[in-house]
Amino acid sequence: MAQKLAAGNWKMNGTEASLAEIDAMLAAYPDPGCGVLICPPATLLERMSRRIGRGKIATGAQDCHMNANGAHTGDISAEMIKDAGGAYAIVGHSERRTDHGETNEIVNAKAQAAIGAGLVAVVCLGETLEQRDAGETLDLVGSQLAGSIPDGATGENLVVAYEPVWAIGTGRIPTMEQIIEVHDFMRARLVERFGAEIGKSISLLYGGSVKPSNAAEIFAVENVDGALVGGASLKAADFGAIIDAL
Ligand code: G3H
Repeated sequence: MAQKLAAGNWKMNGTEASLAEIDAMLAAYPDPGCGVLICPPATLLERMSRRIGRGKIATGAQDCHMNANGAHTGDISAEMIKDAGGAYAIVGHSERRTDHGETNEIVNAKAQAAIGAGLVAVVCLGETLEQRDAGETLDLVGSQLAGSIPDGATGENLVVAYEPVWAIGTGRIPTMEQIIEVHDFMRARLVERFGAEIGKSISLLYGGSVKPSNAAEIFAVENVDGALVGGASLKAADFGAIIDAL
């Protein structure tokens, strides 16, 4: 049985003042009924992790390098994320695939590095509008899933986030039928590759314009185990309403 997870990706947002949102979250959700993860920018990861302490909310990074250390200016490794208190690393977000040319092979290596360091890798994938309109969604999702997820993945070290690129930050979400189709497909592919026990234990998140107003409908889908939330994770009240819906 996959864990229910509400994950927030702050993207390139947040400074010291934003940590007040964490205080509000901790006050409102000292013992949330599902997994809760917040991935702030790297500059806030250690501060946020300390602020949360041993609470039930986990922190993570938005990316990690595939190597443990070395001459990679500007990058951070999975070991460093762990050292800063993070337990998760998002890899393969479409913004990284687009802005930094990350291929499935690179995402796979990053996921391996994260898992090797004892983190949970949150592997993101999803189609562009052009790919959807061309009827290529399942082919694309299938190849991203096969290429980006390393061997040895389990429900303990991997989360998959389906994020249609056209739904990210646009206020537009797929129909429930479209979400059901992709999530059922991903579940079937994971079961095929890793076996029923592991394949069914991997949490499948939906991401892209999740808000308090649409979260309950999305979470009612059988193979949706939670959400990867961007904009609505920046405010404790909105993210809290999404946690409540899960
Ligand atoms: O990682 C989060 C996603 O890109 C979704 O972002 O909720 O702002 O659409 P959004």
